[in-house]
Amino acid sequence: MQEQIKNTKTLEELQTLYTATFGKNGTMTAKLKNMKNLDNDARAKLNRENAALRELFKSRQTELENAAMHAALATQRLDPSLNPIPENRGTLHPLTQTLSDVSSILESFGYEMWTGPEIEDDWHNFTALNTPEYHPARDMQDTFFLENGNVMRTQTSAIQIRSMETVGAPIKMFGIGATYRKEMDATHSPMFHQIEGLYIDKNITMSDLIADVREFLKRFFNMDNVDLRIRPSYFPFTEPSIEIDMKWHGDRWLEIMGAGMVHPNVLRNCNINPDEYQGFAFGFGWDRLAMLKYGLNDIRKFYDGDVRWLQKTGF
Ligand code: PHE
Repeated sequence: MQEQIKNTKTLEELQTLYTATFGKNGTMTAKLKNMKNLDNDARAKLNRENAALRELFKSRQTELENAAMHAALATQRLDPSLNPIPENRGTLHPLTQTLSDVSSILESFGYEMWTGPEIEDDWHNFTALNTPEYHPARDMQDTFFLENGNVMRTQTSAIQIRSMETVGAPIKMFGIGATYRKEMDATHSPMFHQIEGLYIDKNITMSDLIADVREFLKRFFNMDNVDLRIRPSYFPFTEPSIEIDMKWHGDRWLEIMGAGMVHPNVLRNCNINPDEYQGFAFGFGWDRLAMLKYGLNDIRKFYDGDVRWLQKTGF
């Protein structure tokens, strides 16, 4: 028996032998079951035999385990001279990064994020926004018309109409998404993105608008203070309408966004009573905000899908 244990070559072989000895039907198990029929000497002898055999199995197991480990070390050696597998680390697209910054700021102010369809009907993109057919302001937006009379959304203001139609007032939301206009150069792309905030409640005023915009810009650009310049402007869906400029690097005024108090006609179009509720809207170019933050000057780069550019800029 001792010889048999010593001659085992593998752990599996040893296990088989162990089961044949100590298993349910094992030879040793049978002898131990018969113990009560033995005299004292025979019992003591059997106990010694039992202990010795177990000891032998254990030490052979250790030997075989060590042998297996040495064999593995010899064949599975680590080769530190091999070149590492190149790591292909992705980066967030600057627009994605910008949206996550913008939305976490606006959501912390209580604005809720909305999206809407990119193919819009005339009502949501124009008419409900106080821009009926033949209104000269339709000319401000170089619209892509579809054959069935729908349009490629020219502004995310359409999402605001949808949110007011669905929720009514009070409402505090921002719409985000792709917008389309027939224009193309370094700062204009036929597809670009907008983000627009809307806050309708009782007693909302222009100073609430300016406070939220100021706080938003401070947080987005990580500035202690922002200098703002408010200029009168015109949008059919706001009255009064303004444009907001921001002092940039201490010397230049940059146009940042359009805004204003929501026109009573727009509220009426969404079944909100303008004598009870009022509020403001503001809208800006999502791409433009990203370009300012990351110091980029060609909007077309956002849409080239050029991985080298994305990795180089490393947002
Ligand atoms: N929708 C306007 C644009 O595309 C921006 C805007 C939004 C202006 C909300 C005022 C209020 O130019």
